[in-house]
Amino acid sequence: MNTRPLKVAVLGCGVVGTKVVRLLHDRRSALADRMGAPVEIAGVAVRDLQRPRDLGIDPALLTNDPLELVKRDGIDIVVELLGGIEPARSLMVTAMERGASVVSANKAVVAEHGPVLHEIAARHGVDLLYEASVAAAIPLLRPLRDSLGGDDVTRVVGIVNGTTNYVLDRMTETGSGLDAALREAIERGYAEADPTADVEGTDAAAKAVILGSLAFHSWMSPTDVYREGITGVTAEDVADARACDCVVKLVAVLERTAAQDEFLVRVQPMMVPRTHPLAEVKGADNAVLIEAASAGRLLFRGAGAGGAPTAGAIVGDVVTAARRRLLGQHEPAVRTTVADRARAAGGLRGRYHLRVRVDGSATSLDDIVSALRRNEVRVGSVRRRRTAGPDTWVLVTEPCREADLLSAVDSLSALPSVGDVPRFLRILDSDGQEVVDGQGSTADR
Ligand code: HSE
Repeated sequence: MNTRPLKVAVLGCGVVGTKVVRLLHDRRSALADRMGAPVEIAGVAVRDLQRPRDLGIDPALLTNDPLELVKRDGIDIVVELLGGIEPARSLMVTAMERGASVVSANKAVVAEHGPVLHEIAARHGVDLLYEASVAAAIPLLRPLRDSLGGDDVTRVVGIVNGTTNYVLDRMTETGSGLDAALREAIERGYAEADPTADVEGTDAAAKAVILGSLAFHSWMSPTDVYREGITGVTAEDVADARACDCVVKLVAVLERTAAQDEFLVRVQPMMVPRTHPLAEVKGADNAVLIEAASAGRLLFRGAGAGGAPTAGAIVGDVVTAARRRLLGQHEPAVRTTVADRARAAGGLRGRYHLRVRVDGSATSLDDIVSALRRNEVRVGSVRRRRTAGPDTWVLVTEPCREADLLSAVDSLSALPSVGDVPRFLRILDSDGQEVVDGQGSTADR
């Protein structure tokens, strides 16, 4: 065993940071065996030095100056758990420039600045690892980079936000509203400091960028992602999903076109048939289905949020970075071709669940079906829900282009007595939604 300890600095000591420090401290003997050198916690940067903490380490190791900690001599690995873009990004850069490897759970920074950060890591011969940034405990990024490094990934479909999955699951199981379920998710420590990033899909979009960039070997940008959060999902959507044997889930869909030169990256609430493996994902769990030319279909599933699962993934990256460091190695640079070919919406094909409310007799089912037909949208099934107020027609389309569906929704809105804009939700089909042409772009919407 190497006798020089590997010095680890931890930036941020919230729910996850506390668990990371405890794991590094409590498992120090086992970790030393696995890494080949003892690990030494060189310092922990906290916001509030006065706050009582149960970390098991000498309180003198706490500091409220993360930059000073990162700049200390001899730091081998910096674990960045601050969240947000700044000062996290600058501290990561400083750490790498000073020769430390960086382990981070910060999906926002990696999604936004991944190519530059990788370039800095390569230039300074250090590692930049962020397994915990996507789906917490589930090993996904290393399988994509290493195990599937020789394969051709064509499609990734997943639930990558624990908070929204928990919220939608609660809405499905108990009929509760979004706000009550979100409060529970926050109490359980799944949500981001500002849960807007969860419910509006920004968190999932950042994870989709990281997954897509590694799966397709080409860096995307958060602006490449077509994003819809769950704020518009209602108890009626959830009930409609149940009526057609589906559940509503926030799903990230990443696809490479047959020509392999375009990507489709979307995060959106979808109706997922109960027979689909993603439908069974409960609570704050995540699951990601990867399809690759040689490997076929692979399902990764497990805890996608929470202190312990995230901390476990971070400590796993610390072990990897430590081992490489002891061998004088570092991970080969991630290819940083910047993708400018991500498309969305118009060229997409799929089935849609559509709800049309009609108040009065001026519009019949025939009128609705004709309006859809005029826009090349065919109806697969239809049912009528009579209520005290307006009648509601619930339709499921045959596979159609999303651009056509959007035009059809405009046509339906123009019919007499159709009060609200018809609500539609995409249905996740087991064989996916395919990009059929290059006409669509997010701007078309
Ligand atoms: N807020 C995130 C989620 C935490 O709910 O998935 C894990 O990234």
